[in-house]
Amino acid sequence: AHITLIAGARPNFIKVAAIIHAINAAETQGRVIDYCLVHTGQHYDEKMSGAFFKELNIPEPDANLGAGGGTHAEQTAAIMVGFERHLLANPTDLVLVVGDVTSTMACAIVAQKLHTKVAHVEAGIRSNDWSMPEEINRLVTDAITNEFFTTSVVANETLRNGGVSDDRIHFVGNVMIDTLRANEHRLEQPEVWRELNLEPRQYLVMTLHRPANVDQEHKLKALIGEIIAYSGELPLIFPVHPRTAKILTNLGINHSRLYLIEPLGYLQFNYLVKHAKAVLTDSGGITEETTVMGVPCMTLRDNTERPETVTCGTNELLGTDPRAIKPAMSKLFSGNWKEGRVPEKWDGRAAQRIVDVILSL
Ligand code: UD1
Ligand code: UDP
Repeated sequence: AHITLIAGARPNFIKVAAIIHAINAAETQGRVIDYCLVHTGQHYDEKMSGAFFKELNIPEPDANLGAGGGTHAEQTAAIMVGFERHLLANPTDLVLVVGDVTSTMACAIVAQKLHTKVAHVEAGIRSNDWSMPEEINRLVTDAITNEFFTTSVVANETLRNGGVSDDRIHFVGNVMIDTLRANEHRLEQPEVWRELNLEPRQYLVMTLHRPANVDQEHKLKALIGEIIAYSGELPLIFPVHPRTAKILTNLGINHSRLYLIEPLGYLQFNYLVKHAKAVLTDSGGITEETTVMGVPCMTLRDNTERPETVTCGTNELLGTDPRAIKPAMSKLFSGNWKEGRVPEKWDGRAAQRIVDVILSL
């Protein structure tokens, strides 16, 4: 079989790493999948892209479409034009897309229109919130996917209810967690740890990049203000996403306990998360990682497409109203945060299962 793997944005790289390593492992047993890796160029900064290829030992992409920046339509169009050209010159049996970013949707459309089968990793999850660009990407992608690789029983149910037949739903687990399991023993202390003499459970980590939280200056300012106000004496370590950096610079927020740093590499970021008192975030992937590491997580969103991080895991949805921060911090500091457990099949073997399915198609 020959497959084409698509990756465009930070969380995609972490997911394809697991899939590529599973393909390579199968090859040593004579179970060969030829693959080609296409980077759409959606994320392009070294700290948002190149760094992950090096750390996670992802091979150089066979092509980079250079389609970063622009409006949603501009970015979608650039990816589609670039990927169509690539696919016409380099036909394949299956295009495998991961996650819910614009690259995921754009490449699925191109593939299906060129009569190439599409497999979607992380299929079937829904926030049911059409104001999120990712939800549109999920709906469009799943509408034209042939093989659905899922992370949860809820996703399986959603797909079944939407009329997808059982033989196309493959409940394999979570490839993002494969990467975490594979790297947990080699996490690295970041520079900020030594600079600030951080100690385990004596600091908070935060990340924010959703348009709903960061695109309006007053909202971002109010959120950060409340987090500073109710975080006690703890340092707040905030690796800033480039989208957020653009807005933060105008705000000029300064506080002695708030440490704004560049986006971290995977091994350093997860070292920081693993030892944190808690994480405040609007990320999707990070809520899964905190669940697996058993670290309290406060999600600054009104909904989640990953409900098992809340029902099973350590995550709690606070919403986007800054007033939710105070009671959540009281709960954390009084030691009443839930323990959580790890969802079914988040065991580090999801990518192996994906490879097994692909070889059986
Ligand atoms: C994208 C995904 C989001 C995902 C996030 C992961 C979509 C619609 N959104 O959001 O689901 O959670 O990636 O991080 O696909 N920029 C840079 N350098 C970079 C990348 C981005 O400066 O390397 C800036 C650019 O100005 C760009 C803006 O950030 O226009 C937004 O980037 P984009 O990829 O469109 O969306 P994200 O907010 O990164
Ligand atoms: N991450 C990282 N460095 C950072 C912030 C996040 O390596 O400074 C990793 C994190 O561990 C997770 C992924 O990036 O694996 C999550 O990506 P992001 O929050 O950008 O996207 P989402 O999951 O919300 O789509």
